Amino acid sequence: MKRNILITGGAGFIGSHVVRLFVEKYPDYNIINLDKLTYAGNLANLKDVEQKPNYTFVKADICDFDAVCEIFDKYDIDGVIHLAAESHVDRSIKDPFTFARTNVIGTLSLLQAARLKWEAKPERYEGKRFYHISTDEVYGALEFDDTLFTEQTKYDPHSPYSASKASSDHFVRAFHDTYGMPTVVTNCSNNYGPYQFPEKLIPLFINNIRHRRPLPVYGKGENVRDWLYVEDHARAIDVIFHEGKVADTYNIGGFNEWRNIDLIKVIIRTVDRLIGNPEGYSDELITYVTDRAGHDLRYAIDSRKLKNELGWEPSLQFEEGIEKTVRWYLDNQEWMDNITSGEYEKYYEEMYKGR
Ligand code: NAD
Ligand code: TYD
Repeated sequence: MKRNILITGGAGFIGSHVVRLFVEKYPDYNIINLDKLTYAGNLANLKDVEQKPNYTFVKADICDFDAVCEIFDKYDIDGVIHLAAESHVDRSIKDPFTFARTNVIGTLSLLQAARLKWEAKPERYEGKRFYHISTDEVYGALEFDDTLFTEQTKYDPHSPYSASKASSDHFVRAFHDTYGMPTVVTNCSNNYGPYQFPEKLIPLFINNIRHRRPLPVYGKGENVRDWLYVEDHARAIDVIFHEGKVADTYNIGGFNEWRNIDLIKVIIRTVDRLIGNPEGYSDELITYVTDRAGHDLRYAIDSRKLKNELGWEPSLQFEEGIEKTVRWYLDNQEWMDNITSGEYEKYYEEMYKGR
């Protein structure tokens, strides 16, 4: 079946994996990647697909309603997979307005463009889909116990990032309830893998170990995150885009909880082994710094609904995933060096000075 699918944020970390999967798996689909190319967007993430005949890149801002409408018209979009967002909690603490603009207004602009274009067609919403990618962070924080976030957990966001994502999730659901748009929302746990911008824990620490820079551990390093390999997230998105129930919500996670400090030790051991350092060589880089404001204690996702209803499960064990990830960053130092030249040093200075 022919389809024209708009993927937003396709030049970012998760988006680039989703674009690659769809372009390669569905040669009959036209994949239109809309991305503003902020600091986090990088077309080098998509070098291997840029020449494919079913792939088109459009540089645009999702907040630019006229530009979004034009893209819907020009490419006759019938499906949206919306990943474009400001995604880093620490940046949201410094600059919440940018998060409200992109994550809330940008999502609304896409929804409204989709509504106007699809409602103007004789078949209206038939065969259409608006898939919004969200995060487990909208659910707030868990205690150190065995509770998990389910699809019924009440929203309780604490950071400007998670508050903006929660707001965008509400808009998406409102467009289903008010206009009948066939929407679906998923809430995923922390992703890791190739092409992640080195402001997030795992690529930042791999790069810092390589340059023998301090590894800034927030607070006591006791916070817990649930880590999922990014290609497993992309596979889940494929399944849910095609088979997920309209107006439904699915949690996506790896049942893979790690205390930050334990994860950091795994990263250090893996990098040291792969670059030939003696065991324990980089432990001295661990540096405890002032905690993140409003730092959520623990995230953990119950993704049984997705498994039971649509048969999705993570394919990679964490040990294998982290080994693959560290190897990828060490083998792709040019990618990392390009990203960390220019503005990055300034960001790093500002983010970590005085902590
Ligand atoms: P990212 O920061 O790596 O990439 C975001 C992309 O969006 C970039 O390519 C950027 O250029 C683009 N973008 C930003 N503002 C834009 C705008 N105004 N117009 C058009 N494009 C714009 O993010 P990511 O980690 O790949 O996350 C993708 C999505 O998945 C986000 O919606 C995020 O909330 C969600 N998510 C991320 C994680 C995670 O662990 N990274 C987990 C769960 C959900
Ligand atoms: P991060 O990768 O920013 O993802 P999120 O905040 O969305 O979960 O951070 C993962 C965890 O690592 C989080 O508990 C904060 C912590 N962290 C540090 O301890 N030091 C750092 O330099 C960074 C970036 C994160």
